[in-house]
Amino acid sequence: MTTPRKLFVKTYGCQMNVYDSERMAEALAPSGYVTTDRAEDADLILLNTCHIREKAAEKVYSELGRLKPLKAANPDLRIGVAGCVAQAEGAEIVARAPSVDLVVGPQSYHRLPELEARARQGARAIDTDFPAEDKFDALPARPKAARGPTAFLTVQEGCDKFCAFCVVPYTRGAEASRPPARILAEARDLVDRGVREITLLGQNVNAYHGAGVDGEWSLARLTAALGGIEGLARIRYTTSHPCDMTDDLIAAHGEGGKLMPYLHLPVQSGSDRILKAMNRRHTAEEYLRVIDRLRAARPDILLSSDFIVGFPGETEADFADTLALIEAVGFGQSYSFKYSPRPGTPAAERAEVAAEVADDRLQRLQALLRTQEQAAQAAMVGREVTVLFEKPGRLPGQMVGKSEYLHAVHAMAPGVTPGTLCRVRITESAAHSLGGEVVAE
Ligand code: SAH
Ligand code: SF4
Ligand code: F3S
Repeated sequence: MTTPRKLFVKTYGCQMNVYDSERMAEALAPSGYVTTDRAEDADLILLNTCHIREKAAEKVYSELGRLKPLKAANPDLRIGVAGCVAQAEGAEIVARAPSVDLVVGPQSYHRLPELEARARQGARAIDTDFPAEDKFDALPARPKAARGPTAFLTVQEGCDKFCAFCVVPYTRGAEASRPPARILAEARDLVDRGVREITLLGQNVNAYHGAGVDGEWSLARLTAALGGIEGLARIRYTTSHPCDMTDDLIAAHGEGGKLMPYLHLPVQSGSDRILKAMNRRHTAEEYLRVIDRLRAARPDILLSSDFIVGFPGETEADFADTLALIEAVGFGQSYSFKYSPRPGTPAAERAEVAAEVADDRLQRLQALLRTQEQAAQAAMVGREVTVLFEKPGRLPGQMVGKSEYLHAVHAMAPGVTPGTLCRVRITESAAHSLGGEVVAE
């Protein structure tokens, strides 16, 4: 038997890249690769990259610099760049980083075995096509090894929305949904291997429209069908666009099934002028009405969002509208970013807000969001939640997991194994997690 080659994958960016990294490792298994968590041991290093903001993209070049000595020490080492930077800047990577042997875009990674073989023979292998074949059809069946209690499952990819700031429609291509039968089969298989919570992924996951044998399926229908899988306890989905929050999906949140009472619904700004300039296709008021309908269906739903500050043309009055929207909603969690001009996007052509103004707004926005986050956590103290325990905590006998609201919760739970759901009474709220006592298994 030949010794297996070792693969080290480093993942940047969103959850979809986490999922893709798993699938890339699986695609390379038939070529004799096992994964390692030490770059120094690897025969192949893959950087699965993100292009969403300038800082994210620059990380790739600095990481490539750090990897150079490894390549000098081991002439058999091959280095590959995958993901959204590969898609957007494949040619530039090849020119700027002679240490890179392989470049593969997010829609072509089923071709990795062939690209790896070419790179192994000394060629530079590049594939950033949007191929006609579906990569999911071409990938090998998923392995049967046991896995942890939570998993991601990509159901939809790409985006047709073309927000003026965003590279995703260019790096991931047009919206495409996987057929429901494939998703259900993959979910059943994950559950057989120990998964109890599945997060459905898509760049615009609620635009899901998979081709079933009996016509088109919506995301609501898909989650209902997934709910029928015995052994699956929880379903989440991310990321959603406000314009695609349909009545059936909102109603699904009220049905008390396996769909968790948490929703990440990015709004980006609270100013109608800026929302229009961003090409978000909805007003602040329309966003607030979606939130009202969600809360009418599921009063305890915890809401989370993304914000961009300093978008070209943003005035202090526009920014005040964003703060007002945040006050009106009350978010349980949020992600906020300073606008970063991205090559090829319409907004990159527009005059920028001064950096110090944007920095100041980001700080003020984050202070408000932090207050809301802390308030949402504090409101949990004294309540009972259900926790899916994922792994041991720092103290002996302690376990950590997530509540239905996606709060990290730790509790003393000696003898409780990962994958167990327990009722926990919350007793304390720390900076980024909640502490509690198990009341029932
Ligand atoms: N598909 C999702 C998420 C896209 S990327 C959606 O539509 O919401 C994740 C987040 O990154 C976005 O919601 C946005 O807040 C942020 N982002 C995207 N492009 C950006 C840019 N050019 N500068 C700063 N933040 C950006
Ligand atoms: Fe980007 Fe907008 Fe599409 Fe989200 S909806 S991925 S922000 S273009
Ligand atoms: Fe980044 Fe691509 Fe995801 S740009 S956020 S890795 S879709």
